[in-house]
Amino acid sequence: MVSAQEISQAGQIRDARMRVAVIGCGYVGLVTGVCLAEVGHEVHLVDLDKKKIEMLNSGKAPIYELGLDLLLQSNKPSLHFYSDITEAIQDRDIEVIFIAVGTPSDKEGHADLTALFRAARSLIGLINEKTVVVVKSTVPVGTCDNVAEMLDTQRVISNPEFLKEGTAVKDCLEPDRVVIGHHFDCNDAVDIMIHLYYPIVRGDYDKIVLMDRRSSEMTKYAANVMLAARLSMMNELAVLCEKYDADIEQVRLGIGKDERIGPHFLKAGPGYGGSCFPKDVSALLCMAEKVKVEPIMLSAIKDRNDNQRYHAACKILDYFRWSLQDKRIVVWGLAFKAGTDDARESPALEIIRTLVEKDAMVVAHDPKATETFQEAFGDHDNLSYNGQYGALFGADALVLLTDWDEYKKPNWELIGRSMYKKTIFDFRNIWDREHLERDGFYYESIGRAPSATFFV
Ligand code: UGA
Repeated sequence: MVSAQEISQAGQIRDARMRVAVIGCGYVGLVTGVCLAEVGHEVHLVDLDKKKIEMLNSGKAPIYELGLDLLLQSNKPSLHFYSDITEAIQDRDIEVIFIAVGTPSDKEGHADLTALFRAARSLIGLINEKTVVVVKSTVPVGTCDNVAEMLDTQRVISNPEFLKEGTAVKDCLEPDRVVIGHHFDCNDAVDIMIHLYYPIVRGDYDKIVLMDRRSSEMTKYAANVMLAARLSMMNELAVLCEKYDADIEQVRLGIGKDERIGPHFLKAGPGYGGSCFPKDVSALLCMAEKVKVEPIMLSAIKDRNDNQRYHAACKILDYFRWSLQDKRIVVWGLAFKAGTDDARESPALEIIRTLVEKDAMVVAHDPKATETFQEAFGDHDNLSYNGQYGALFGADALVLLTDWDEYKKPNWELIGRSMYKKTIFDFRNIWDREHLERDGFYYESIGRAPSATFFV
């Protein structure tokens, strides 16, 4: 395989400003488009959701993502929004078209490619023999080949996205690698991609990893399931630590110093969530089953994660001896992680569902994700929302599910005074157990034995 530098040097010197279209204004498409504008390209973004496009045209991002609003404003002249693909692409001499639509799980866990193939089909007749079509959505291995066949061109590139919600803009502008999967016969399409990304990698060609399309599609799944595996392993070790009176936080520091393991992605918690890990583990599981490979590891990653949410809920149930009637339980954190308004597959969905079904009165707070959580959870008579401290009045327990900065150093004096019972479940291990116990709180976390005294 030739290197990015070789291809780029062989290519012609191109105009640095390129004309790009992005189909799909979700987390991936919108952030990608805005970042490409930020580095100097002209970007035409399309989404079928007219409301989203109206918001974007008025200069507002439909999602919360650090720095996104600012970049939308400062790159206004280079950003154009449409709800119609033809209008976005026709007669604009677009060089690169990104497809960045959602590929959610269907009922059985397969990646649902309806939106992706709809987007690809809509390009028939709109592209010319030079256009490069880039699949950014996470797709099962072989999908780019299908898109190539549909569009009758091998200028289809697999270019998976590795950004994280909450730090998406930074991840996109400072990627640790850019994976470009291409057909062996299409070096000039690769050349275009390298020029497109040149201002983002700032000339550091080592960041560009060239490979075949199928390996590139698999790389995306491999990255996510590898990270999910780390988390499931840590969550299982956490359960063992609880039983053996060890401390998962000490263990994390102990193994994180091993250079082969490294310190990242080792925090035990209530289980991973979001729109990616659960979906991608399931999709790869389905892909394995399709080719009759027993997905031993993938099944274990998924089972541990499903179990971890239940394990967290059981800690609360056990404490109250499985009787939550008349108990007022406050939950801080509904987003699947800090820094995002996204509540998809959030551990909060399942944990709160278990609590209200056991008749607890749950009062919830989140700095950004209340609306998306409400949408995903629906209404329930036993669930209400309140301010961070307002929620605590008369509470029997405070449960922390998302490690927002707002929650890291709360006013413990006020919390202690407001609560009926000073009971804390810290499922992100962010608070100081010794300090809280000294102040008379019962404290329980993940991967550490609970406080000795029960106050029920
Ligand atoms: C994940 C990947 O990290 C990105 O590289 C990838 O591009 C993205 O999926 C995607 O496929 O689009 P994201 O889901 O946005 O990104 O967020 P992460 O920061 O990876 O967190 C995922 C889940 O793991 C969250 O529920 C988080 O709370 C949990 N987590 C993360 C832990 O429980 N412990 C940790 O140490 C780290």
